[in-house]
Order: sequence, then structure tokens, then C-alpha cells
Amino acid sequence: MNGTVKQTNGASRSIPVAPTGSRRDLARRLFDTLAEIGGAGIGTTRPSYSALETQAMEVIADTARKAGLTVGYDPAANLTIDLVGSDPDAAAVWAGSHLDSVPQGGNFDGTAGVIAALLAQLRLKEEGITPRRTVRTIALRGEESPWFGQCYLGSMAILGKLTADDLARTHRTDGRTLAEHMTDLGIESDRLTAQQPIVAPSEVAAFFELHIEQGPVLVARKLPVGVVTGIRGNLRHQKIVCRGEAGHSGAVPRWLRKDAVLAVADLLSTMDEHWAALMERGLDLVVTAGIVQTNPDEHAMTRIPGECSFSIDFRSQSAETLQAFHHLLYSEARRIGRDRGVVFDFGPSSYSEPAILDKTLGDRLLAQAKALSIPAEAMPSGAGHDASAFANAGIPAAMVFVRNRNGSHNPDEDMDLDDFMLAGDVMYAAIAETAQKD
Ligand code: GLV
Ligand code: MN
Ligand code: MN
Repeated sequence: MNGTVKQTNGASRSIPVAPTGSRRDLARRLFDTLAEIGGAGIGTTRPSYSALETQAMEVIADTARKAGLTVGYDPAANLTIDLVGSDPDAAAVWAGSHLDSVPQGGNFDGTAGVIAALLAQLRLKEEGITPRRTVRTIALRGEESPWFGQCYLGSMAILGKLTADDLARTHRTDGRTLAEHMTDLGIESDRLTAQQPIVAPSEVAAFFELHIEQGPVLVARKLPVGVVTGIRGNLRHQKIVCRGEAGHSGAVPRWLRKDAVLAVADLLSTMDEHWAALMERGLDLVVTAGIVQTNPDEHAMTRIPGECSFSIDFRSQSAETLQAFHHLLYSEARRIGRDRGVVFDFGPSSYSEPAILDKTLGDRLLAQAKALSIPAEAMPSGAGHDASAFANAGIPAAMVFVRNRNGSHNPDEDMDLDDFMLAGDVMYAAIAETAQKD
């Protein structure tokens, strides 16, 4: 892919670049425009590796082109926008986030980090600063796992960590593979699984990601900005199928039933008890079964469910805790399978390591916040972010959180533009500083 991406559905939306002093207005216009892309139903639905994701990228790209920045797409169709430094061979400073969303998500998860990175480049230009290092905005694809069961796809492709198994993952609604979806966008997916990074980690001096906080901490602490210390890892099964035996709800006595729903309920409540016990021992863990379903084509009030499928997502700051909980899940499923006459088919799992973010960059963000008199505090991230993929590849990574009401992964995400601009000021200052350093 040579700086182009197939436009399968490309209504072009042109946004005037902000004159000096109106970056805030530009940010508002960009957020408003992005809200329309994938905004036809409830909230924002912009699938990973979709034409809607490309449209969102083109809104950002169009603004960057007009501002005279260097715009392209990498071989995984992530959008790159460069402000070329005076020493173009020096490792670059990257900033960005993702432009896909969960189904019926909000308008700020991901978009905030891409817009903030672009605004930082525009501000460098406006202030007449040519940084020593190239400053790149990266708009990543495929961060959200609901679409293909794996998170951080765009950053994994950059880092040479995408596997053939990842390309064979199927889409949640149409069943087509990730490879097929990539082909639709003009991506040569075979090239991505050669385990060759698109960009060597040594070529990136730092990765900055601004993101809304997806939990309630900054609101409760009355702080506009947070600086992230580490990111929970996750272990997930997108679809576990429990198979028992369907039967007549009136005719089969309890002792002869193989009820798949009760088996799933038993497994989930057993895992909930393990979760509570592990937390009592002081371990970090969160567990979610976000999808539990019987097949609507066959389920009925009067039918003993023969099949029930569910997802599980568990997260921790400790890789050991994730592995231990996974073993417990398998062993409890075997026990319940024996007791209840059912079988659990786990299907593929996905794993993302927990990450520690770079302390030097984190301290730099906190120092810049202090210098700007912007109240900020260090905090961990419970949610997953592309920054963790970069950090685990050895790239110094840092994150700025913006206060956000109503949580996230829902249509009600609510970030004040004033808070966004404050967090953006902090990130800008740290980018400007990092881009001048040796
Ligand atoms: C990413 O959005 C996550 O699921 O944490
Ligand atoms: Mn998200
Ligand atoms: Mn996100």
C-alpha cells in the first residue's frame, strides 16, 4: 500500500483548517463530523477494518493535507500524518489512537487521541517550530475486539505481531475473515503476517496516546487530566459454546436433563466466586461475560436449551493472574461438564499482555501539567489501549487521560471540550519536549 487506501464508500467531508487560535473550534468540528460516520443508529458503530473506518480516517487526512502535513497509509492501512523533523533520520515521536468503535459506542473513545495528535502537529506548525524528530500522528485501525475477537490489530500489524490465525478470525456479523475484510480495503494481508515489523521499534522514540478515561475516577477526583502508569492485560474467548441436550420442558425430569443454560450459569457463578476469592488475596482482576445467548432460531420457552454460547473477558495487571484464572476456567468447565452432561467448546482465545508505561515520559507529562497549572494525577488504566502494544514491543509509551462522564463503550460518553484541550496542552508540551531531545 503506497499511501492510498481503497475508498469503497467515500463520501468526502471537507473541514476548513483552523486559523491560529481556533484549534478548539477545529476539534469540535472534527468530533461532530466523526460522530456522523457510523452514527446512523444508536451511538457510534464504526467496525474495525471497514469502509466507515476509512471515511473517518479521510476526515482527519483531509484536514492534515490542507495544513501541508505529509499524509499516507501504511501497509496495514493505518493513517500516518508526518510533520517532518530537521533530523528525519532520528527516531520519530508518534502520537495517536484508533478510529474504530465498539457496536453502539461513544464518539470519544479513540477519536480524542487522533484529533489531539493532529492538533499538536498543527500547533507546532503554527508556532513555527520545526522539531528535531519527525512528529507522526497515527490513526490506528482495529483496536476494538468485538469485531474480530482480537484487539490492537492495527498496532500489532505495525509491530509485526499479526499471525495467520489472526487473519483467519471471523467478523462478528458477516462471518468473513479479517483477511477478506483487509482485501476489500486494498491491503495485501499476506505481507502482514511475515512477522516483519512495518516500522522497527528503534525508529520510534516515543508513543503518546491521549484517551478518555473509561472509568469514573477522574470525575470522582474532580481532575480534568490523568497520566497513565500501566494498562491491564486481557485474556478473552469471543465464543464458548456449551452443548447439552435439547428436550421437552415438561417431559424430562431434573436428573435426566443436560441443560446448557444452567451449565453456563453454574460455570459463570463459580468463576465469580473464584474472582471474589482472588480479590480477597489482593490480586487485580475483572471478569465480564458480555454475551450470553441461546440460538433464537431454535430456543423456546418450552424447550430445554441444548446449546448456549457466551463470551468471557478477564483482565488484570498481572500476567500470572490471567493464566491462573484461565486454568481455573478450564478445570471448572471440565468438572461442570462431567456433573451436568455437557461439553464446553472454548474456540480460539486472544491474549494481550499487561503493560507498564514509560516512567520518564509519564513524569514528563506530569511535570508539563504542573508547569501549565493543570491539575493531574498518575493512575492505572483498567481498559486496554494501543499504547500497551507499543510499550510491550519496547517503545517508550505514555498516555494522558481526559475526564469523561458516563463511562465508555456506550453511546453516552461525555467529555468536555475544555478538558480535552487541557489534556491536549499537556500532551503537546511533552511531545514538543521529546521531539527536541537527543
Ligand atoms: C478497549 O477498548 C478495551 O476493550 O479495553
Ligand atoms: Mn474502546
Ligand atoms: Mn479506545
